[in-house]
Amino acid sequence: MPRPRRSCLAVPGSSQKMIDKARTLPADQVFLDLEDACAPLAKPDARKTIVAALNEGGWGERTRVVRVNDWTTEWTYRDVVEVVEGAGANLDCLMLPKVQTAQQVQALDLLLTQIEKTMGYEVGRIGIEAQIENARGLVEVDAIATASPRVETIIFGPADFMASINMKSLVVGEQPPGYDVGDAYHYILMRILMAARANDVQAIDGPYLQIRDVDGFRRVAGRAAALGYDGKWVLHPGQIDAANAVFSPDQSDYDHAENILDAYEFFTSDRGGQRGAVMLGDEMIDEASRKMALVIAGKGRAAGMTRTDKWTPPTE
Ligand code: GLV
Ligand code: MG
Repeated sequence: MPRPRRSCLAVPGSSQKMIDKARTLPADQVFLDLEDACAPLAKPDARKTIVAALNEGGWGERTRVVRVNDWTTEWTYRDVVEVVEGAGANLDCLMLPKVQTAQQVQALDLLLTQIEKTMGYEVGRIGIEAQIENARGLVEVDAIATASPRVETIIFGPADFMASINMKSLVVGEQPPGYDVGDAYHYILMRILMAARANDVQAIDGPYLQIRDVDGFRRVAGRAAALGYDGKWVLHPGQIDAANAVFSPDQSDYDHAENILDAYEFFTSDRGGQRGAVMLGDEMIDEASRKMALVIAGKGRAAGMTRTDKWTPPTE
């Protein structure tokens, strides 16, 4: 079962106050940031703050992630060594930003393996979240998704991505000014989604920076959810409920999916007449409907939803 990641809360690793607050918020994942939300001069102390925060616990069921700096900086190896030696037992994944090649993922995998062996941790338990933030990374995304069995998710980093391809937009995730044909982000989102689905890893949408505009967040998150994304970053407590709702099915879709599963099981059985294509109300359902229903029912069950409307087989 993949970890829930409907809402992935970004928390600057240098802010004890925000780290403490994060423990109380209903985000599926919390990632403590050593990269862009942490000033260069604050990074050495932030590593220590993060190690202490992970070891102190109090994270409940939340997925615990640390974003290290990317391999083109001088900080990555110390981020990894200090955080994983210090708190590897209390850490689920490392997030690697600005990934451009499969080799960068493999380098992190090798380093993690050495630390796990040295520390006596289970080898391979700590996962990798790979962030795609420039054209090179997108072109290489299939190789990145398969670079290591540790890769659990591919994340779109829209802010860095827009900067790297010279995209002209003032609001991350919204249409650039003057652009009115289709959706400027569609290709990027779909490219990442295909790599993720082809390789059984999750696809996560990145941040929406207008943190007071919850409707804008819902709009942009809704697009990613409609395509099939598993979750989105949240930068502010106000975005968390919206993300959890957008990436969970609504009640009627959930009920309908469970009903399709029950009805299809009945109609394909001996008692139901061994039928492969049948009408459920006004809708024709077959094996492909069952697969679509399984996705929605799976998301609903993972979110702890319960049925409010139950289909019953026809009586003879
Ligand atoms: C996130 O890291 C982004 O660049 O959007
Ligand atoms: Mg970024």
